[in-house]
Amino acid sequence: MKSSRLLTAYFSPTGTTQKIAHTVAEGIAYPNQDIDLSIPQKMEEISEDTVLLAVVPVYGGRVPAVALKRMSQMRGNGQNAVAVAVYGNREFEDALLELKNTMEDIGFRVIAAAAFIAEHSIVRSIAAGRPDEDDLGTAREFGAQVAEKLSKDDRPSAVQVPGNMPYREFGGMPAHPKAGKACIKCGLCAKRCPIGAIPTEHPDTTDPEKCITCMRCVAVCPKKARSLPAPMLLASKTMLSVKAAGHKKPQTFL
Ligand SMILES: Cc1cc2nc3c(=O)[nH]c(=O)nc-3n(C[C@H](O)[C@H](O)[C@H](O)COP(=O)(O)O)c2cc1C
Repeated sequence: MKSSRLLTAYFSPTGTTQKIAHTVAEGIAYPNQDIDLSIPQKMEEISEDTVLLAVVPVYGGRVPAVALKRMSQMRGNGQNAVAVAVYGNREFEDALLELKNTMEDIGFRVIAAAAFIAEHSIVRSIAAGRPDEDDLGTAREFGAQVAEKLSKDDRPSAVQVPGNMPYREFGGMPAHPKAGKACIKCGLCAKRCPIGAIPTEHPDTTDPEKCITCMRCVAVCPKKARSLPAPMLLASKTMLSVKAAGHKKPQTFL
């Protein structure tokens, strides 16, 4: 069946992944429905004419496990799909391959993929301001190329992406955001935390067992009361100033 609708599923704690997702979707230009994977939800059945666009950030060269787990509740039946990873100018390593393999495991056929660069959500001075106008232009153009590939063939060729198996090990970050004195316990961070790691009754605390250091609580706090412990921030800054230097460019695979 010809593809004519789009389902855009994204996990985007600090918003850059969502921006790329919406821009690629704009380029594909099919009627679109969003699925925000930062909210646990029941997945509807996916119609035969739907293309799945899955867009995730890169954490430690991998896809955040919670995003994969929530996405894995979807079931495809050979529908075409597009895999996109968004990373903070260091490397995307095995994330795109992991995303593509997972999408195939749940029944989709990945016919295009891409990796885009965005501001690093832990050290925001790295790739600050990205995605910029050039990145967004590339994302829109990539979407248009996907639409063209789909218009030529009902079953376009599957795509190859870089990455290695077994995937790189990533056990999570060694520290988590904490609330400081400016915290007014408004509870916004608890409400917006994608994995419920901040108790509603005690929003000035963080459950280290659950927290994935996605930085959403830091980004949404109206009082800028949440931050990572200074030694971890400094260590990340030092590491990234070497490993995430220069201006990396988006890569597309069609
Ligand atoms: C826990 C964590 C791990 C990350 N690991 C990587 C990485 O391995 N490589 C990289 O280039 N960026 C890495 N980043 C940066 C994010 O991939 C990047 O900032 C992304 O744009 C965040 O998406 P969001 O704005 O949708 O939350 C990491 C960010 C976090 C929070």
